[in-house]
Parts: sequence; C-alpha cells; structure tokens
Amino acid sequence: MKVVAIGTGYVGLVTGVCYASLGHEAVCLDIDVAKVAALNVGQVPIYEPGLKDRMVQAVARGKLRFTTDYAEALAGAEIAFIAVGTPTEEGGSKANTTFVEAAFASILEHHSGPLTVVVKSTVPIGTNDRLQAILEQQAPDAPIHLASNPEFLREGAAIDDFLNPDRIVVGPRDSTASQALRMLNQGFIDRGVAYVDVSASSAEMIKYAANAFLATKITFINEVASLCERVGADVEDVAHGIGLDQRIGPDFLAAGPGYGGSCFPKDTLALVDTAQVEGSPVRILEAVIDVNEARKKEMAEKVIDSLGGVERARGKTVAIWGLTFKPNTDDLRDSPSIAIIPALQQAGIHIRAFDPQGMAGAADLFENIAFQPTPLDAVQGADCVCLVTHWSDFAEIDLETVKAALNTPCFVDLRNVFDPQAMAEGGWDYRSLGRPT
Ligand code: UGA
Repeated sequence: MKVVAIGTGYVGLVTGVCYASLGHEAVCLDIDVAKVAALNVGQVPIYEPGLKDRMVQAVARGKLRFTTDYAEALAGAEIAFIAVGTPTEEGGSKANTTFVEAAFASILEHHSGPLTVVVKSTVPIGTNDRLQAILEQQAPDAPIHLASNPEFLREGAAIDDFLNPDRIVVGPRDSTASQALRMLNQGFIDRGVAYVDVSASSAEMIKYAANAFLATKITFINEVASLCERVGADVEDVAHGIGLDQRIGPDFLAAGPGYGGSCFPKDTLALVDTAQVEGSPVRILEAVIDVNEARKKEMAEKVIDSLGGVERARGKTVAIWGLTFKPNTDDLRDSPSIAIIPALQQAGIHIRAFDPQGMAGAADLFENIAFQPTPLDAVQGADCVCLVTHWSDFAEIDLETVKAALNTPCFVDLRNVFDPQAMAEGGWDYRSLGRPT
C-alpha cells in the first residue's frame, strides 16, 4: 500500500520507516525544509537504535522517500498518518492540537483521491470527532475517511515495539477506513497480534489510559521504595514478589528518580485536564503528577544528605552520570536531571556531567555545568557520583578506578544498578532507592 506519514518526529519517522521495511511504499512528509533535506542525505534527527540502518535500506530499495510537498506525497496514497506533535499548551495542561489541525487542513487542500486519514498523534479524546465535523463542514463530498490509531512505541525501543507490538488499536469511523487499516496491518493480524477495533474515542482513550496507568504503576513503586527505606525492606524483592502475580505483572516496577520523557508528563496532565473539564476528575492521576514532581526534588535531597547535609554539601562537587530521561535516547524532555541538577546547584554544589547521547541538547538546558567527555572524566576530583540514567556504559565501568578518581567514595544510585552489599564491601558509601544501605 502507499502510506504517507506526516511529521518526522519519533512517531512519524518510525511509522514511515517500519511500513517501508515491511514492503509498503512510504513517504515521510514534514514542513521543516531543513529536516527533510537532512533526511534526504541519510541524516536522522533523533538518536533511536536501529532507525538509521532501516531508513537507509528502505530508501535504497526505493520504498521510502522524504518530501515537504503535500500534493506530491498524497498523490495515489491510500493512507495518511498524522503524526505531528501535540505539546502541552504554554502555561497550561491541555495538549495543543494546532499542528494536527494544520496537517488535516493541508490534507484537505492537497489530496487528490480517496484517502484514509489516520490520527496517530496523541490527541485529547474527542479530537477525531472534531476533525470529522471539520470535514463535514468544509469538504462534505471529499472521499476522506477518518480513523484513530494510537501508537505505543517506547523511545529507545521504537523499532522493536513497532514490529512486535503487544496490540494494534484502531478506531476507524467507517468501513473504508476499517478495511484500509486492516489491509495495512494484515501481516500483524496473521501473526496473531491482538487487533483492537473500537470507536475513535475509545482508541484515543486507550492511549491516554495506558500511559496514565503506567505512570501510576511507576509512581506507586517509587512511593513503596521510599517506605521500604523506612521499614528496612528491599523494593527489588518487593517488586519481584508482587510482579509474579499475573494480575500485576513484573514490568514498570523499577523504582527510579520519577518518570520523565515526552509522553507520560504531557499525557497525564492532558488527561487530568480533560477529566476536569468533563466534571469527572481522575484524582488518582492528579496525585501521581504531584508525587512525581516531588520525587525529583527528593532525589536532590538524597544527594545532599549523602554529602553530609546542607551545610557540608555547599561548595562540594557532584558528578552526574546520565542526563537523558532514560537510556538509549538523546531525549532530555522532562528528564529528572532537569529538576535534580538545578536543585543541587541552588544548594551551592558544583556539577560535572557525562551522558552518552544527551550532552549536545543539555548544553542549552543547563547552566554552569562542566560537561566531560567520559564518565571517568566526570568523577575526577568530585565528592560524589550520582547515577541518574541507567545507560549500560555505567554498569560496565571499573568502580575501583572511579573510587580512585573521587575525593570521597560516595555513590548515589538513582536506578539501583549496583549491588548494595558488593558496594559496601568495596568500601563505598552507597545509597540507592528502597534498598537497605
Ligand atoms: C512511553 C510508553 O511506555 C509508550 O508505550 C508510549 O507509546 C510512549 O510513552 C508515548 O506515549 O509515545 P517512553 O516515554 O518512550 O514511552 O518511555 P518509557 O520507557 O515508558 O519510560 C518513561 C519514564 O518512566 C522514563 O523516565 C523511565 O525512566 C521511567 N520508568 C519506566 C521508571 O522509572 N520505572 C520503570 O519501571 C519504567
């Protein structure tokens, strides 16, 4: 089939590249001329493992191309995915759908034949209804068929998530859209991937409810971790013990410094907003958002405590390992590091930092940080190392060399990467999350 992905961010680019690598004819469209020019010479604007290779191969096989031209992209296309950003509105909590509406207006203006328009962007529940109303008002005779098809890709694992999904959720508005989406996804359906065909509003809700539930699960284990510290329990054992219950499941029970990224913070806020507007507040999610914000600040306090408290910490140096919101991405959006580092600086602490992929973006986000080319350079002369993001690079470092480079053997591990007993035996003052020190 011929598919067009509008927007070349994580979702649009991965969608275009993956459908092309499955044998479809894909066009990725973006209104950003520089971005399309870069893609056309094989440059990928984001760090996503496996994406560049697949992209280059698909282009070489003539299955994928990039353009800024709607009319050219839509000519002969059967499906167009809207995969543009829906950032949180400035100073508010609503998701801004301006880019979605602009993309839809361009489709209406430039399409030349029957087309199924699929909203993949994460949009407030009711957005698809609104696009349908625009369609009926502005182009009632246009052969356009709307559908919703949320994505569940994780940054850093997006290709695998796309090609091996737990489920595909679609919300077609009519039988033409339903058939087009089924045909496109027939390979997945044949492999037994669950295919959830529901109303457009339910599809939109599934996306928000899934992210809200996962954010709640993380926040729950984070609070349990804090309680474990008080009562002398081990959160790793607790997560294992509850995760074996099939009703709970083992995933997303890793205690950490608070969830971040481009999705959970934005989507939880947007769902709370929708719920409040509809007069049906989701109070549990309001609490999740508050707890997660507070968690990031508590992480800074943990580091300050490890340096002997507020007075003693002033003037000391902390080495930060990891700036991105999670490993295998260069994405810093809403990363816990963005809350933790300024809180430490406010306490008079100097920061040295290293991240395998995030330092280019971090240069614009932070002030007065001494960025270092390696993790070992970062710890040189520091009084404590704080691991914020669990890049595999850090787990492989020789800790004796790290200790020798530090002023004091102080380690705050916000991802529970290392073994507390081994660290204690190695002479470290080691603190982690929800585990006995
Ligand atoms: C998330 C969802 O997992 C995807 O299914 C969804 O498609 C995507 O949002 C989206 O809406 O586009 P992503 O933001 O890439 O994906 O990252 P996750 O792997 O879900 O991690 C989110 C945050 O939770 C990170 O800060 C991570 O460190 C944290 N986390 C995750 C934990 O603290 N503990 C865990 O056990 C799992």
